Amino acid sequence: MEYPVDTSLKPEVTGFFDPATNTISYVVKDPASDACAIVDSVMDIDYAAGRITYEHADELIKFVQENGLKLEWLIETHVHADHLSAAPYIQDKLGGKIGIGEHIVTVQDVFGKIFNEGTEFQRDGSQFDALFKDGDTYMVGQMPVFAMHTPGHTPACMVHVMGDAAFVGDTLFMPDGGSARADFPGGDAGTLYDSIQKVLALPDETRLFMCHDYGPNGRDIQWETTVADEKAHNIHVGAGKTKEEFVKFRTERDAQLTMPKLIIPSLQVNMRAGEVPRDKDGVPMLKVPVNGL
Ligand SMILES: [Fe+2]
Repeated sequence: MEYPVDTSLKPEVTGFFDPATNTISYVVKDPASDACAIVDSVMDIDYAAGRITYEHADELIKFVQENGLKLEWLIETHVHADHLSAAPYIQDKLGGKIGIGEHIVTVQDVFGKIFNEGTEFQRDGSQFDALFKDGDTYMVGQMPVFAMHTPGHTPACMVHVMGDAAFVGDTLFMPDGGSARADFPGGDAGTLYDSIQKVLALPDETRLFMCHDYGPNGRDIQWETTVADEKAHNIHVGAGKTKEEFVKFRTERDAQLTMPKLIIPSLQVNMRAGEVPRDKDGVPMLKVPVNGL
């Protein structure tokens, strides 16, 4: 298949693991300039105390500054349900545009209802600087990048392909981790299978960077693999597993999963591009809808 960008370019990718949420954030540097993008940043929260801090985001900021990089993009692969985005905090310090998939409007509509948001909560994606359509391209310095719509885990999921590196969000985990759940509102196991096939159709040598790793069976945390490796070894979709097998397995597994610990604060913040909601007096405040999820 012909891709709209040069998939042989090799950006420098640095991963930052957040042990509190098992999320990996990335700084991706254009090989031909000092331009960079940050993919899936994390804001720290002590939910029991309602306390938000920025140690993880400060690490990213320090890395960008110490390496003399120019931040052009803050990419969200999707509206995460297990950690809070630090995109606005980082944007405030380093600049750059915050981008997400255009189907964020569907996610905002669904969760706007669940959290009983008023009319002041816009459901048009206007909290973000850019909304990507399937196949859209944009630049990080001199490196063209493209965004591929990969729904299934959530309706707005996108995989961003930057040269030979693809940031897969929650479409895939490491081969021994398999795939992410598909039972959130708007999720669908069959759709996820089809999206994974789009990722696995990238060139075999494409480097794949995960958004999460949980170190299954006690192995050390890892976040980088390749298309060839996933095709051969992914325990949920590799080695020729059929769509029927995947959907049956995924549906049964999802029925047994509990909600992520941080889903309530994460959705409220992330559907606002990382801004903490405020009450009518302007005080930062989170809600808990009872039996709403
Ligand atoms: Fe996710």
